[in-house]
Parts: sequence; structure tokens; C-alpha cells
Amino acid sequence: MVKTIKALEKQKQSLTVTEGERKKHIKLIETTYLSNTDSDYTEKIEELEKNFNYSSNSNYYWSEPEQSMLYGTPLYEAASPSQKMALNHLHWFGMYNVVAASETETITYNQITASVFAACGYEKLSQMLTLETSQERSHIHAFHNIGHKTMKALLGKDAFKASFKNKFYQRTNKSEARRLTSSRLPNFFNLQENNSLADYQYYALRFIAKTMLASHKKSYSQYLSELEKTYQFIPVSTTGLIGRGLSPRSIQRFFAFNWGGSPFLASQYYGLRMMANMVLKNTEHSTSRYFKKLAKKGDFIPAPTAVSHYHFLDESFHTTTSMLIARDLYKDFPQPTAYEKFTINLALYMMQRGILSGLSAVVPDRYYADDCSMMYFVYKILQSPLFEMPPQEALQWVEKCFCHEHEGFQMTAKYHKRLRADCCRFYGSFKHLWPVNREMRLMASKGTIDKAIQSNIKTFKKFSQAFA
Ligand SMILES: [Fe+2]
Ligand SMILES: [Fe+2]
Repeated sequence: MVKTIKALEKQKQSLTVTEGERKKHIKLIETTYLSNTDSDYTEKIEELEKNFNYSSNSNYYWSEPEQSMLYGTPLYEAASPSQKMALNHLHWFGMYNVVAASETETITYNQITASVFAACGYEKLSQMLTLETSQERSHIHAFHNIGHKTMKALLGKDAFKASFKNKFYQRTNKSEARRLTSSRLPNFFNLQENNSLADYQYYALRFIAKTMLASHKKSYSQYLSELEKTYQFIPVSTTGLIGRGLSPRSIQRFFAFNWGGSPFLASQYYGLRMMANMVLKNTEHSTSRYFKKLAKKGDFIPAPTAVSHYHFLDESFHTTTSMLIARDLYKDFPQPTAYEKFTINLALYMMQRGILSGLSAVVPDRYYADDCSMMYFVYKILQSPLFEMPPQEALQWVEKCFCHEHEGFQMTAKYHKRLRADCCRFYGSFKHLWPVNREMRLMASKGTIDKAIQSNIKTFKKFSQAFA
């Protein structure tokens, strides 16, 4: 009892002490909300999407050549000018495929956390998150529509079918599917998951979280309450950045439950989202600069380049929101418990491990722990109408591009280094983070060219056996 009173006093103290700061934070939220409401970037994206057709944009680069798939690989050197142009467009497609999946996650998490903030007196913030959500819906629609038309034009109708379902690296050919799921290659793409076991895992983890966060019942997410009333699971993804970082599904749902379970964890979800914001900014800023370069020269601006530019501007509001909530607003809430600190640290560690601790051989701004899905995608592209290679030749090129050092790796390492500097700048000031997260140690130790090549050699061995 004495302990409880002391804990409540401590919580109250932390709220009272930051009253001046609290007003400042509310003001900053209102300013960001007004600026975002007054902007018309989303409308511009909608307009560009409506009028998009691939043929009017097909003869132009959509970003600097270095932002092309396979850039710097031996295959890129051997490619014709039109193939190089297509690889530039494929990079745009691949990148925004991931962005669309990540923004679908954002929609869910915005809804989970908005009512937590509203219950703490931050109604304007809740409104701002609702505005963000509507912007994300427009963005996702534009990325899917432009991506769909691009893939269809470049790789044909079949490639489009697989890619539009976010399964571009999965098999469309039944005999390949059998070979990939045979005993020779169990769970190579980790696509099978035991549903009922995952559900039990989630229930057990949720029970723990509920117990640990019991003191925050009053601010519990309304969105989660509604889902529970109708026995629905929290929507999760496997292709967005958070879905990849916090997999499997039971773990992702466990964390999602936590984001809706206390004001501190709701605010620290935005620290996690900041990682995705920085990943996007690291690549989209370059395309925005390319847009400005073309505009300055009075050159034709391809519609996807303009979409990237306006999306970059729209997302700058979202990045400001993430920063405000994660870095400042959390101080307005009761001090975190050891459980809350552990939860956010574990989530950040998993994100670092899942999406930032590798270097792709063929995409300059992709840092997943392994490159096997890209291996399959490249293998399919080489056999598509774009390159028209027989399977054996395609396999040889895959080996050349993934298992040996080339300029493309240097480019990815450059992007990775820049991103790590951004991450260290942001997370460095968070006292509640473990040093491995504050200093992004995993990102530094795992994301090396040598480790990427060693990992690719192992993956290629299994890959080539499956397709031999
Ligand atoms: Fe967006
Ligand atoms: Fe966003």
C-alpha cells in the first residue's frame, strides 16, 4: 500500500514538474498540425497518380542513376541503356512497395495510440494522427497504382500479378514452388507459420503485458478495446518495415498491444517509427533533390519523381510528429517502469537487427539481415522480357552480383553509414535506451560488405540447389 502511494506520488510529481514543458509541447503539436492542414502535397500526389501513364514517363530517369536496382553490379555494366532505365524504374517500384506496406502499418499504429494520447488530454495530437492516416491512405493508393502500371509495362502481366500482392519474390510457378518447399530447402523463405501456436503465444504475451501495465487502464487504447469486443486480432504485416523487424506475427501483436497499453509506450512507439522515417528520408531526400535539379534546369519532370518529392514534403510533417512525441512528449507522462523500458529497448533492438543489420548487393537503400528475397526477384527479372535470359545464365549472373564485391556494395555501404549517423544523432539522447540501441552497435557490427558477401554465399548455395 505504502509502495503504491509512493509510486502514485512519483507519477504525479513527474506530471507537475513538466507543466510548463507540457504547454510548450501542446503548442508545438498545434503548429505542426496547422502547417500540415494548410499544405497541399497530398492533393498534388493524388493528381499526379490520376494522370499517370507509364509510356509518358518511360524514357526518363526517375531518380539519379545510382538509385537503380543492380547499380554498380557487373550486370549493370553489361546492361543496355534501356535496361538501365528500366532498372531505375524498378528501384522506384521496389522502394515504394515497402513504403506502402510500412504506411499500412502506420495506419494501424496511429489508431492504436491516438486514443491513448486523447485520454491524457492531447486531443489535438489525436486529430493530427487522424489527418496523417488519411494522407497515408492517399500515398498508399498512389504507390500501388503507379507501381502496378510500371510493373505491368516492364515485366508483363504475370510479374504484375505476383508483385501487386506484395509477393514479388514468391513463386508463381508451381514446380518452382514445390522445389522451394521441398525437404531440401525447409522454410527457406520462412513463409510457413503455425497459426494456432502463434495465437497462443500472443495470448500468453498479452496476459503478461496486461498485468505489467495494469496501472494505465484509464488510458488504454479504445481501438484495441473495440477489436477485443469483436474478437478480432490486431492487423499485422510481413512486408512493412515494422513487420519485418518485429516478426513473427505473435511478437508484432504483443508489441502493438503494448503501444496501446501505456502513455510512455505509446509515445515510444514513435521512436520506433522514427527509424522507418529515417530509412525513408535517407533515400527520398535524394529523389527530392533530383526533382529540384530538373525543375531548376526546366527539364521534364517524370510523375513518379514528383510523387517522391511531394511525398518527401508530406512525410516531413510525419517525421516532425514522430520526433516531437518520442523525444519530448514522453516527458509529460509518468516515469517509465522497468518493464516499459525493457519493452521499448527490445523492440528497437529487434528492429535494428531485422531491417538495418545487412547490406543489399543489388539495392542501394536496403539493409535487411539477408538478401534472399532479392536473389529470387533478380533471378525472375533476368528471365523476364526485360533480359530474356535462360534459367542457367540467370543463375550465373545472380552468383556474380550477390557473391562478389562490386561498386554496388560500396554505394549501399555509403547510404548505410549516413543512415547510422542519423540514427545515432536521434537515439543518442535517450537515457532510457540500452547502449546497443543508443549507439546503433548492431547496425555497425553487422552491416559490413564482408558479412553481406559471406551470408549471400551461404544463401546462394541453397538457392542454386533448389533451382539446379
Ligand atoms: Fe506516406
Ligand atoms: Fe508517413
